[in-house]
Amino acid sequence: MKVLIVGSGGREHSLAEAFAKDIKKSDIYVAPGNGGIALDYKCLPLRNKEEIISWCKDNRPDLVMVGPEQYLAEGLSNSLNAEGIPCVGPSQEAAKIESSKIFAKTLMTKYHIPTASYVAFEDKDQALAYVRYMGKYPLVIKANGLAAGKGVIIAENQKQAEYAIQALENKVVVEEYLKGWEVSLFVITDGKDFKTTIFSQDHKQLGENDTGPNTGGMGAFAPVKEAESYRKQIEEQIVAPILEGLKAEGCPYKGFLYCGLMITEEGPKVLEFNCRLGDPETQAILPLLQTSFTEVCYAILNNKVSDLKLEWSPQSSVCVVLASQGYPGTFPTGFPVIINSPITSKIFFAGVENKDGQLITSGGRVLSLVALGKNLSEARRKVYQDINKVNFTGKYFRRDISLRKNKC
Ligand code: AMP
Ligand code: GLY
Repeated sequence: MKVLIVGSGGREHSLAEAFAKDIKKSDIYVAPGNGGIALDYKCLPLRNKEEIISWCKDNRPDLVMVGPEQYLAEGLSNSLNAEGIPCVGPSQEAAKIESSKIFAKTLMTKYHIPTASYVAFEDKDQALAYVRYMGKYPLVIKANGLAAGKGVIIAENQKQAEYAIQALENKVVVEEYLKGWEVSLFVITDGKDFKTTIFSQDHKQLGENDTGPNTGGMGAFAPVKEAESYRKQIEEQIVAPILEGLKAEGCPYKGFLYCGLMITEEGPKVLEFNCRLGDPETQAILPLLQTSFTEVCYAILNNKVSDLKLEWSPQSSVCVVLASQGYPGTFPTGFPVIINSPITSKIFFAGVENKDGQLITSGGRVLSLVALGKNLSEARRKVYQDINKVNFTGKYFRRDISLRKNKC
């Protein structure tokens, strides 16, 4: 059994570890991976969709698992499936749920899925005229297309709204600001049936107490007990209708669907759908999954999700991201990453390279530590103890991962 994981971050490292429970490490390939993942798995220097397809045609992996949205939006899943290479990830058409905010919002409206009210603009001037007229803040401005986490601006006043619109491409969505607390839920679906995972929570902002600029995620934890009472409502009012809607529109969804939700006083509402597993949430969730991840992937590919039984560890997990000083702005790289054992947390590498046998920093989010414990406080205590054992110049991390009060 040969598996190819596409992507290069902590999420992909945690995916490799999940597959490694069933499959020999030497049969797990990651493209392109990174210097840290390469300590345990074969990393392939494939830099684009064409190179991935070409490698797959020559090497015939039994399964391809796609991490990042970009490849799915470009139709990697369509191309691989057309070659008879099983690929876990939705088609290009279904991936529009993430790659076009206007598509996602239109679908949510059509199928009565609770989300922030919005107006979509094909043209900047109209959007500018609208925010000048609206005069009610905060307002949320979103780029229509994929924007690598930089496409959402919460404008506190007209000046910020105008600035945000000017900085984006022509198509934008202007959205109502939702108040509440956020939670992430992953859906496993074969296009016919679905199962949901445990809840997790990302910490997107750079600073403690959720301050500062948005990042790709500074940490996550799972499960989120406070969200459980909303599960049925989320499945019935959000997950089932969006999957039905996608099917009715001629683009059935097969793969993992990420639901970014805001729990408001009026109940759960959708902030966004992503066509893939979330990062860093996956790093917190997968270590708690007791069912074989390979089996989960095969259930998706073979239309057997209705038979899938998901078992979860009763433990909790906390994932803390160690970043380079300056991230998400500019930051220096090339610093040695020193790891003093013994370390009990899992290490998932993201922005590292291997230079002559030494791991050095090469990205904003350098690595994550993930610890499990009998409850969140034990997991948190373990992970923060281990952070002292991992060092590089400019190491930055949040000290409050999993301490958020989840209340409206
Ligand atoms: P997104 O990329 O759509 O998840 O947005 C990034 C972040 O912006 C979300 O995780 C929220 O924290 C925030 N956000 C997005 N849309 C809204 C909204 N309508 N109201 C309040 N916050 C939002
Ligand atoms: N954790 C947010 C995302 O994966 O988009």
